[in-house]
Amino acid sequence: MFLSELMQKIVVFSGAGMSAESGIQTFRDHGGLWEHYRVEDVATPEAWKRDPELVTQFYNQRRKQIIETSPNEAHLLIQRLESRYDVTVITQNIDDLHERVGSQKVLHLHGNIRFSKSSGPNQEHTYYPIQGWELKAEDRCPEGYRLRPHVVWFGEQVPMLEAAATIIAQADQLIIIGTSLRVYPAAALIHEVSKHSAVYLIDPNANEMNLPFGVQAIKETAVGGMSLLYKQLTS
Ligand SMILES: NC(=O)c1ccc[n+]([C@@H]2O[C@H](COP(=O)([O-])OP(=O)(O)OC[C@H]3O[C@@H](n4cnc5c(N)ncnc54)[C@H](O)[C@@H]3O)[C@@H](O)[C@H]2O)c1
Repeated sequence: MFLSELMQKIVVFSGAGMSAESGIQTFRDHGGLWEHYRVEDVATPEAWKRDPELVTQFYNQRRKQIIETSPNEAHLLIQRLESRYDVTVITQNIDDLHERVGSQKVLHLHGNIRFSKSSGPNQEHTYYPIQGWELKAEDRCPEGYRLRPHVVWFGEQVPMLEAAATIIAQADQLIIIGTSLRVYPAAALIHEVSKHSAVYLIDPNANEMNLPFGVQAIKETAVGGMSLLYKQLTS
């Protein structure tokens, strides 16, 4: 029995690099998704107002790809830590790969592409599961407004920010994986961590990143880095 470990809180803060080895493109890396699209055309409230069809199609394609892909070994190892620790995942990802390996506590900072929400007023927090990959123009909320993807767009509030900050502040160990820490306000969350907490960053570009003092950089992919860290945390 590892009672002392069960009490310990591990928080995983994941970004696009977490899912790269599942075949989902990252955001800014060379060859990343946004080399092919302008953020303003597909990921802002203005884009939705201008051309909801284009935005819907863009996210339909992302959803299709996510459904067709599988979680990788790093998602699995994070889930396995639950047998020894109290683990919470805070993800910037809109994919559901953490849930698909059975992670119990997953907070999506930027939404979950497998859900939609109303584009009408005052219905920010009601989410509807999307069956399959396609959200259609005729899909409506009970009030008759068109459904949009449950994704936080650039320029929108991040409703889960405060909840995420509280969780990170209580972490005994923080594992940051596959994020360039350039998308705000999410990136600022790591500064909420207690000075008594161990902080790891797994990213192949870890050395080039401007890391706060005390962060242990593991210059590996998500799978390579989590394999090393899993051994360390469970030995
Ligand atoms: N899978 C998804 O849901 C998905 C995909 C693309 C972008 N997004 C969203 O776009 C925003 C982008 O910010 P971000 O910081 O998450 O992504 P980012 O693209 O800005 O940064 C990705 C980071 O992942 C690292 N990386 C690349 N390959 C990796 C690998 N195999 N293992 C580990 N790390 C690897 C890169 O070095 C980089 O630091 C976020 O909101 C993100 O969730 C989500």
